[in-house]
Amino acid sequence: MSIQACDVKTSSEAQQVRKYVKMYSRMGGKAYVHSFGCQLNVSDGEKMKGILASLGFTFTESYENADLILLNTCAVRESAEDTVYGTLGNIKKYKKQNPGVILILAGCMASEPKTLDKVRSHYPFVDILFGTSALSQLPKLLLEHYEGKKLAYDMTEYSEEFGADDQIRESTFKASVPIMFGCNNFCTYCIVPYVRGRERSRSAEVIIREVEDLVAKGYKEIMLLGQNVNSYGNDLEGGMSFAQLLRRLNEIPGEFWIRFMSSHPKDATPELLDAILECDKVGKHLHLPVQCGSDTVLKRMNRHYTAEKYLEIVDYLRARSEGFSLSSDIMVGFPDETEAEFEDTLKLVERVKYDNIYTFIYSKRSGTAAAEMEDATPDAQKRVRMERLLTLQRQVATENYRRFIGQTVRVLVEGESKQGEGWLFGKSSAYTIVEFQGDQSLIGTFADVKITDARNWAVSGVLVK
Ligand code: SAH
Ligand code: SF4
Ligand code: F3S
Repeated sequence: MSIQACDVKTSSEAQQVRKYVKMYSRMGGKAYVHSFGCQLNVSDGEKMKGILASLGFTFTESYENADLILLNTCAVRESAEDTVYGTLGNIKKYKKQNPGVILILAGCMASEPKTLDKVRSHYPFVDILFGTSALSQLPKLLLEHYEGKKLAYDMTEYSEEFGADDQIRESTFKASVPIMFGCNNFCTYCIVPYVRGRERSRSAEVIIREVEDLVAKGYKEIMLLGQNVNSYGNDLEGGMSFAQLLRRLNEIPGEFWIRFMSSHPKDATPELLDAILECDKVGKHLHLPVQCGSDTVLKRMNRHYTAEKYLEIVDYLRARSEGFSLSSDIMVGFPDETEAEFEDTLKLVERVKYDNIYTFIYSKRSGTAAAEMEDATPDAQKRVRMERLLTLQRQVATENYRRFIGQTVRVLVEGESKQGEGWLFGKSSAYTIVEFQGDQSLIGTFADVKITDARNWAVSGVLVK
């Protein structure tokens, strides 16, 4: 299925909705949009804001003075869903006092069929529900709501894409650009392929034009997004590979950085690794989620690589670029993980020397293959394992970050640091958090910082220029 651009603003539904917004909004047409979950979801949320703005809404940071509340949800772990249901519980009171407020549930949870049932039975005050591939239907659903429909919903997988031109971006110097949607990998623990559908790559031409435009507007960091960017283009006839796309984007003139996530180790080819190493604008960092270090668990997870294969990728990079920066997602407590299997993960973490790891305790997702697997490991034991992993990573990272001391690194300055007054933070090409003292006017620009100190999650230094 190829993706077509669509312009929702000019539709007849949009015109009618604009009238209703003026007529019925007590707060003058204020919308509160909150995205949970990953960067892809945040990017979708920015597009939803673009649609709402075109319908006459402006935005507020608090749902308590909004005419429209949109929760863009995440379903990846039970805790993510609990957070959303908790938020819905809080909103219930506000909605009771202000029945005219429109409450919308979107995103990954809204793409699970069980959510529709749950909303009907437990959260009848939700007005609109739409799935991750039905973003372009928001004006139509709003119109149905204004015309009296009790619960307007759409979970269809549309192939239309809302144009990025109208996306309302959170940052003025960091922009994310989805290059593909969906996932074909079906890791046995993961709900994403069920809520995001199959892989659909956007055309390289459109992506290149979008990045050129962002760079011309002054954006300094472009984050390419996809559940597995390494399989970009596989579904396009005669399309570019991800490595080719990186090389092409690297040719765009101007000082900016290209980053991307996530990369599946099974598709991390030497062609891709060479592109990362050789392209000067591509950050010298790879987020390469390993999930665990045990071959038996990797098999049960349906990950299609072994620890040895993963380490070959690590060694390839480090042989060509000493101390190349790596980060990972690691899961503890996959069904029936044994002590020995867990220790294989510790061994791998010790061997790879990640700069950073994102850790998760396995969470059962109904509908996935792992949900049917036996799991005799008690939760308390999983928590102990997590503590052991975190303790190890703290040691590894403290030692690891010392490699930057004495180096002068280029940093994209992102904001004020919590260190104290006059302190700023940014990220280096290796995606390391760098703290230093400097003027706020540097935020959103590049600066050179000489590293003098290292901790287990960041480094600090002195501004050179
Ligand atoms: N597509 C990305 C990951 C998306 S989800 C990739 O493959 O790298 C982000 C992370 O959430 C995953 O890497 C995994 O570590 C974690 N995760 C996914 N499903 C989970 C589950 N059921 N329980 C706990 N963690 C999970
Ligand atoms: Fe989930 Fe695996 Fe797809 Fe990542 S690659 S989104 S972990 S199924
Ligand atoms: Fe969550 Fe959906 Fe992203 S499940 S992690 S918001 S793709």
